[in-house]
Amino acid sequence: MKKILFLLLGLYFAVLLPAQTGANLYNEILDRTEWWRQDRFGMFIHFGLYSIPARGEWVKSVEKIPDEQYQIYFEEFNPVDYNPREWAKLAKKAGMKYAVLTAKHHEGFALWDTKLSDYKSTNTPCKRDIVREFLDAFRAEGLKVGLYFSVIDWHHPDYPKYDDMHHPMRGNEKFKKDKIDWDNYLAFMHGQVKELVTDYGHLDIMWFDFSYGDMKAEKWEAEKLIKMVRSYQPGIILNNRLLGDGTIENDRRVSVYGDFETPEQGVPDACIKDVDNRFLPWETCLTLNNSWGYSRIDQNWKSPESIIHTLVNCVSKDGNLLLNVGPDARGNIPESSIKILNKVGEWMRLNGESVYGCGSASAFEKPEWGFITQKGNKIYLHWTYPKIGHINMKGLGGKVKKVRLLRDGSEIQTESNWWGDGGTENNFYVNLNKPTYQYFPLPDDMDTVFEIELK
Ligand code: GLC
Repeated sequence: MKKILFLLLGLYFAVLLPAQTGANLYNEILDRTEWWRQDRFGMFIHFGLYSIPARGEWVKSVEKIPDEQYQIYFEEFNPVDYNPREWAKLAKKAGMKYAVLTAKHHEGFALWDTKLSDYKSTNTPCKRDIVREFLDAFRAEGLKVGLYFSVIDWHHPDYPKYDDMHHPMRGNEKFKKDKIDWDNYLAFMHGQVKELVTDYGHLDIMWFDFSYGDMKAEKWEAEKLIKMVRSYQPGIILNNRLLGDGTIENDRRVSVYGDFETPEQGVPDACIKDVDNRFLPWETCLTLNNSWGYSRIDQNWKSPESIIHTLVNCVSKDGNLLLNVGPDARGNIPESSIKILNKVGEWMRLNGESVYGCGSASAFEKPEWGFITQKGNKIYLHWTYPKIGHINMKGLGGKVKKVRLLRDGSEIQTESNWWGDGGTENNFYVNLNKPTYQYFPLPDDMDTVFEIELK
């Protein structure tokens, strides 16, 4: 009898309890990320001392710049045109619903008035608390706010140097015998995060970056850090980079280390799932050119069309898009970025319904002519290519109540097609050529959206 009791208890603690906790955790993550999964589209802002050299936010590491030399950027940092209200208006006009600013990047420079270091914007000619002003301005425009925080720090004396993979002083003999106090670094790093989550009001997102090699999870004392963050900001959404580097792995598990996955500069093939085949929240972060931090020479701008396709591609797989801007040393978002965002915004104004609150239409395969997004009994066909003829929506025959062009609400007539596989009941053709039967270009050059209401 006793044995059976022990066996049952063992079973409970070894199998049922963890499974239960896992399920609770998963539901918590879904609850927390609910608004964020509706909002779908956010602005990433990479801003720091690196905006002055204008060769990307990794410049200190790439060019192995010593502190003394990097110091000139600190001494001159003065973004006289910094006007976060304008940034917030731009984001809002582009259809973005939240924004994440680099409070501190790997260079270690704090854009807020940290009490734990002198290396901060308030000690430069700028004198301003960039983070506070950003938060106030974006909140005032009704956007949700988040902060990016680098757990890597290339300025702090207690961060590993000689043997580190990325530190600007890696392999530098001068630092070979350098003694560091890791506990001191951790106390400092946790302390800075604490300042951000306690002194700056309600934060919606905290975006940690990043882990590599052994520098991950326990090394950061990540569980303790996250507990602390959540104790002050219970509803805050956290990304997953205290654990991994955001690359897509085969062994994804729901964990306490973060709420969402972070693919970078690309869109996954399908919805991201965990080992138990459950959908996981995710967000692709993407640059508008090829640089996160401001770069003067990088003029490889993506087209507004490719941005819209990427956003829709993400949504069609239940994901978000965090689109980056890199303001220059004066605090201006580059003109080319503004132009792209304004174009995206024009499209979003007329077609946002096919993005916000939408997710994958899992009952359908991705069609060759574009993307499908869905919200309840509404299915949105995003016709991106080819821009002629008609499109077939397999599987919808007989199930459709009506079809409208989303951008103007006009009726779209449908038909079956005499030369293809039109006879099959399964097929359902949206034919813009009707009723005139003359070829004409699609109403929207970038992505023409049809709203299908199901019966
Ligand atoms: C990488 C880079 C970093 C950038 C980030 C954005 O982790 O280190 O510079 O901020 O990606 O996702």
